[in-house]
Amino acid sequence: MGFNVAVVGATGNVGREFLTILAERDFPVDNVVALASSRSVGKEVSFGEDDVLKVEALDTFDFKGIDIVLSSPGSKVSAVFAPRATKAGAIVIDNTSYFRMEPDVPLVVPEVNPEAIAQYQKRGIIANPNCSTIQMVVALKPLHDLARIKRVVVATYQSVSGAGRAAMDELFSQTRAIYVNDPVKPERFAKQIAFNVIPQCEVFRDDGWTTEEWKVVNETRKIIDPDIAVTATCVRVPVFIGHAEAVNIEFSRPMTEERARAALRNAPGVVVLDHRADEGYVTPAEIAGEDAVYVSRIRRDPTVPHGLNLWVVADNLRKGAALNAVQIAEILAADYLGGRGARPKVEPLRRKTG
Ligand SMILES: NC(=O)c1ccc[n+]([C@@H]2O[C@H](COP(=O)([O-])OP(=O)(O)OC[C@H]3O[C@@H](n4cnc5c(N)ncnc54)[C@H](OP(=O)(O)O)[C@@H]3O)[C@@H](O)[C@H]2O)c1
Repeated sequence: MGFNVAVVGATGNVGREFLTILAERDFPVDNVVALASSRSVGKEVSFGEDDVLKVEALDTFDFKGIDIVLSSPGSKVSAVFAPRATKAGAIVIDNTSYFRMEPDVPLVVPEVNPEAIAQYQKRGIIANPNCSTIQMVVALKPLHDLARIKRVVVATYQSVSGAGRAAMDELFSQTRAIYVNDPVKPERFAKQIAFNVIPQCEVFRDDGWTTEEWKVVNETRKIIDPDIAVTATCVRVPVFIGHAEAVNIEFSRPMTEERARAALRNAPGVVVLDHRADEGYVTPAEIAGEDAVYVSRIRRDPTVPHGLNLWVVADNLRKGAALNAVQIAEILAADYLGGRGARPKVEPLRRKTG
């Protein structure tokens, strides 16, 4: 006996990745349901290599009998459907920003704070952090454990897939339009994204920050430590999949490059690739489809007493979204909903203790 799983937003970038990763990791399912808007009813989505699911409408779906929901339909939709699903007895692992900062909803990255999953009992909801936050905290946590991080300054270089399917289409069609001399019409992004970089991810707040920047700051503090000062500039770049981040860290205590490199090499979910030579670092195009968070360019920042610079890259649709949520589901299934189905493969990415 396994679990009944519903995937909400199954036709989207993240939703399709949920279905791929559930199948890849042999998550113990009895039944999987694909849900999206009424526009998509009857469309087919793949579940693993052999199975195809017909999409059903979220609006009219009855969640009775569903154990776990993996959701990514956008914040406004999650706000409405998640309470309905939890009322019917399902546990919702939500990828949107809607519940992330609520104090009684755990915000979880399994390599960093798996113990927070226990708090799912309060609301029946677990929030999956923002893609840029996830890859950064996986790299920061082992360093914070060593020398207490005081301040982080991050600039992100975010791929268009982080803004959904339509945004990927926009990069493709603008690139093509420029080659054939057609006019370029920005729709999903505020300015032309092809052959450009845009210092705006999501929308502006009154204080001049964008909502994406605000999420990176506040989610990092909620997951690791509220005493860390974080400041961010989030930039959209013409890359299809994979976010990169230039991260500057100031520690309270001494930290050497060697200790940082050793800690990151031993950290769950991290791969260090740092050869200080041409090609000796990781770029987004090389890691699309991979699970790990890659760290390169580890070097001292001599402008502060205990400073370090890193380059952090990950697949935003996998570790930045769907993989992180499936890892949460694996721990939930094994540690909290135990005795139902095979023990999932959680060990390789769990945080080492002791
Ligand atoms: N992409 C990332 O890297 C990433 C990372 C972390 C979190 N997220 C978050 O995940 C969410 C989705 O992102 P995405 O990239 O997958 O977007 P997407 O490719 O645009 O897909 C959106 C999905 O939501 C569904 N949907 C939209 N309105 C709906 C409604 N009223 N009822 C039911 N389903 C509805 C869509 O169904 P239809 O096809 O029927 O319209 C589609 O399946 C967003 O909140 C995003 O912020 C994304």
